[in-house]
Amino acid sequence: MTLENALEVLENREKQILLALGKKDGLQVEDIAKETKEKADSVRHDVARLKELGLVKIEEETKTIYEVSKEGEKVIKEGMLESMLIDKVGKGQVKTLSQEWNVAIGHAKRRDWITLDNGIIKLTPKGKSAIGKETEEEKVLKIIKAKKICYENDLKKTEKEIIPTLKKRGNLIIEKKENIHTAYLTANGKNAVKKGLKTENTINLLTPELIRGGDWKKTKFRSYNVEAPVPPLWGGRKHPLRHIIKMIEEVFVEMGFSEMKGPWVETAFWCMDSMWIPQDHPAREVQDTFYLPGKGKLPDKKLVAAVKEVQENGGNTGSTGYQTPWKPEIAEKLLLRTHTTATTFRQFGIEKIKPPAKMFCIDRIFRNETTDKTHLPEFHQVEGFVMDDSINFRHLLGLLKEFYAKLGVKRLRFKPYYNPYTEPSIEIFGWSDQLNRWIEVGNSGQFRPESLAPYGINANVVAWGLGLERIAMQVYELTDIRELLGHTSNFEWLRTYKIPRRQI
Ligand code: PHE
Repeated sequence: MTLENALEVLENREKQILLALGKKDGLQVEDIAKETKEKADSVRHDVARLKELGLVKIEEETKTIYEVSKEGEKVIKEGMLESMLIDKVGKGQVKTLSQEWNVAIGHAKRRDWITLDNGIIKLTPKGKSAIGKETEEEKVLKIIKAKKICYENDLKKTEKEIIPTLKKRGNLIIEKKENIHTAYLTANGKNAVKKGLKTENTINLLTPELIRGGDWKKTKFRSYNVEAPVPPLWGGRKHPLRHIIKMIEEVFVEMGFSEMKGPWVETAFWCMDSMWIPQDHPAREVQDTFYLPGKGKLPDKKLVAAVKEVQENGGNTGSTGYQTPWKPEIAEKLLLRTHTTATTFRQFGIEKIKPPAKMFCIDRIFRNETTDKTHLPEFHQVEGFVMDDSINFRHLLGLLKEFYAKLGVKRLRFKPYYNPYTEPSIEIFGWSDQLNRWIEVGNSGQFRPESLAPYGINANVVAWGLGLERIAMQVYELTDIRELLGHTSNFEWLRTYKIPRRQI
């Protein structure tokens, strides 16, 4: 910033700081506060701003501070141990070597105050003259105590020499380090002061009183430096998945679908039995499914009886069924739904929807999977179905082409697949320009007569499902799904990701 620009935005308080530094360069915040009669905190703030404006530079140094410890206080009150000793020896109260005075005797001998003669303590001339006198140590302790803050440099050379003894002798002092910030004028700062700074009172806050009384007309308001750097503030933001969900919702709605919703906590009945998944299917195992304690409620008896029959012997579908007894206990188990197809079958069994119908669901599902780059135990599925008397497998392929094209996936490949509830079933692969290879984008099929019979649905139903996060990873060019969702989310990325736009 140029000096002219800086001068324009200078506040009264800041000018006063510059003037104070002009009188005496190199001041600490506390000194400036005293000089300008401001609070240290606001001075600190203003000095930082002056630094931003290039008018002040700040030098940091670490200073040593001494404080008298509790032990030191005791010495100030009672004197050093050896002083106490020679006092008692002088008065004849201590005469011989004793355990109690052992340490003091050591110190007194080192000071040449006493000699020992066959265990008898005798004062030397030096010792005699030391009685009742303050030692150097006591003097320095008192000097330190007398100062509010005692910096190392406040002490004279001779006083400093005593410090090691004070530290050694039972920690009579405490040593602390303090970071001192000293403000100096920069060349620009000096020029500013030279030019003469006119100080005037400015006001930070427009109050009702200022408005009512009309004083605002005469008042000079503080200007703000809107270019001053500030810490980043992260406001709320849509989760990246919301944009993808919105995009897919739009595609479904454009294609005439309406939305369905279902619970996260399901019975095994709706998640599996209702669509003719056998009761011994491996996907039902705890390794794949999160079960919850307690039992859920089965739907009305007629529907349960129809599901039981089609599972056991195929009912009147022409199928033989699974030829094993169907157990309601297994169907009553509570779990976190493993696919949104459970929600589709609730539409058939509870909402009793009739053809023609086109519905979709984008919602959360749960699978007991080990977390890795491409798997999370909790994710989202996109599901759609079309029910119509005349719809067939060829329509399904056309629907998929249209649906994926609207999401930007133009080239599709279909591969035969297996689902217990659809026949034919196909796995869908889409060409990824980004990865330059085919990637799995969904699973689909035409619901089997066995899965539709319990609901009295004679129309054909085609359906598909896909993983939302797989699409999101493509759109956001992520290589690790964990960055997207859950406690492993990449916050930095969540704060900065670019909002995607639909291609078509
Ligand atoms: N439920 C299947 C899955 O979870 C997706 C699907 C839905 C397949 C509808 C066929 C029909 O992968």
